[in-house]
Amino acid sequence: MFYSDDVIEEVRSRNDVVDLIGNYIKLTKKGSSYFGLCPFHNEKSPSFSVSRDKQMYYCFGCGAGGNVFTFVMEYENYTFVEAVKYLAERAGIKLPEMEVSEEQKRIQSQRQRLLDIHKMAARYFYYQLKSKNGANALAYFEKRCLSKETIAHFGLGFSNPYRDDLYQFLRSKGYDDGILKASGLVTMDEKYGAHDKFWNRVMFPIMDVNNKVIGFGGRVLGDGTPKYLNSPETLLFDKSRNLYGLNFARTSRQPFMIICEGYMDVIAMHQAGFTNAVASLGTAFTLQHGILLKRYTEEVRLAYDSDEAGVKAALRAIPILRSAGLRIRIIHMNPYKDPDEFIKNLGIEAFKERIDEAENSFMFEVSILERSYNLGDPEGKTRFFNEVAKQLLNFEQELERNNYIEAIARKYGITFENLQKLVNRYGLTLPEREVRREERPAIRKENAGGGYPEALLASQKLLLTWLVNDVSLFKKIKPWLEWEDFVHPVYQRVCRAVYESIETTGQIVPGQIINLFQEKEEQKLVAAIFNSDIAGIDDKNAREKALTETVVRIKRYHLDELSRRTQDLAGLQKIIRMKSDLQHLHISL
Ligand code: GTP
Ligand code: MN
Repeated sequence: MFYSDDVIEEVRSRNDVVDLIGNYIKLTKKGSSYFGLCPFHNEKSPSFSVSRDKQMYYCFGCGAGGNVFTFVMEYENYTFVEAVKYLAERAGIKLPEMEVSEEQKRIQSQRQRLLDIHKMAARYFYYQLKSKNGANALAYFEKRCLSKETIAHFGLGFSNPYRDDLYQFLRSKGYDDGILKASGLVTMDEKYGAHDKFWNRVMFPIMDVNNKVIGFGGRVLGDGTPKYLNSPETLLFDKSRNLYGLNFARTSRQPFMIICEGYMDVIAMHQAGFTNAVASLGTAFTLQHGILLKRYTEEVRLAYDSDEAGVKAALRAIPILRSAGLRIRIIHMNPYKDPDEFIKNLGIEAFKERIDEAENSFMFEVSILERSYNLGDPEGKTRFFNEVAKQLLNFEQELERNNYIEAIARKYGITFENLQKLVNRYGLTLPEREVRREERPAIRKENAGGGYPEALLASQKLLLTWLVNDVSLFKKIKPWLEWEDFVHPVYQRVCRAVYESIETTGQIVPGQIINLFQEKEEQKLVAAIFNSDIAGIDDKNAREKALTETVVRIKRYHLDELSRRTQDLAGLQKIIRMKSDLQHLHISL
């Protein structure tokens, strides 16, 4: 952590959560909370709540939740330190100088200077496109049916046919050869001196998710080679971690993203209204790309070229995307080569249909597999089904596997029973699969609930939510429950913070308590703890009963746990006495 807790708390408390989030999404007041459409998942009716009292937000739909820091981290894709800086600036707080090493300082300032250079270069190219020199380039974009708005939206430009005019321009702005070389925009030649990497090309600025230009792609105006030239990897530009168009696509609020192969496809798609299109930057799809996309969506649809190379690229991308946990579908563009051509020829509506009809990725893989077998020949057919049966085993859930067996059986003319038998035969020779299948759900549960009973966790959650909503309950609960009675480590820490907060200030700000946790998953859990679903109980007796039962359940679980661990007789007797006291407990309000 770079900043002290006091500084962080100051920044948090001076950024009101409702004001902040209200700048990003439309919020409507309902009761004591504000509601809006969740920016972190796609929904039609608002389940995203923001509370001024609690200084936090929580989505009842997807479980996203946290305080002002979490929000900008998630929404803007910032690190914690970036979020602190951003919110400090927003609130007009001057942060103390961070204690960073000389090396870190050097890299940071170099990064900033490179960003400045890229911004200037992008402006320069854009200006050239609009000037006399750029007439041909502008005509090229027009020929490709790009509107003025699209050109401006993507900041497209033109690099002059001179060998070093960008270099001279940047030099005139005070940058030295060293940093210009590091920018990748200029190449230094011992014999001929400096020259621009890009010249006589239409230019595509590449932006990161925060709309900062980090590199360029440049295309020849006609048929020359290489068709595209891309910035080399630099301190700013890592091809395997950035996607073209993601800065726009991430806020498109569609249930899926569309992955295309090229710059022009992305631009044509956005112009046609498909603002959820992205492309990798002239490189193969990587796992990092997949993980990046997974932050914004659960499903991707591939709109790769329909030629041999495109199919190969899709087959390579599918398993990578799968391992990032994404669902995948394939958009078919035949008889056209890519989305750009398709939309030009058949129009937007027709493309929309193709998107809707996108094929399941497994069925797509099987249809490609089919090409290497002669299904007219019994031997070829046998080998094909054996191969498919093996692939089907990758579906670990029986229901899902059966659904695919059914779909394949229907499509390729084999009975469900025969294919299932074949699959099971392979299944029996792969016992380790069975083991894995058993293990997985258990591991997942362990992580979320820590192995504690759901009902117990629900009670702990409920109690903390009640307490936050009505601090006066504290003196009723405290005699019976210590914070140690909350067995789950996260709940325990939260409870302790809640108790301390009430004892010292008489109030609780959940948004502050979230700061005790650094892990995103923990922060989410804390947000959930303070937002358990409490139906208001009007009847006083019923309220007393519910409160009493909740307290008893939490205490009893802890006492049971203690009695299992306690060895000495006196200790055990004390526990038994406390348990019997619980039987008669009645908390009155
Ligand atoms: P247009 O031909 O202008 O429609 O381009 P496109 O964007 O449709 O590109 P294409 O399908 O030909 O290629 C897909 C992507 O691969 C491009 O957007 C580039 O990122 C990359 N690419 C294509 N050709 C080259 C090349 O010659 N060199 C490099 N480095 N990358 C290329
Ligand atoms: Mn194309």
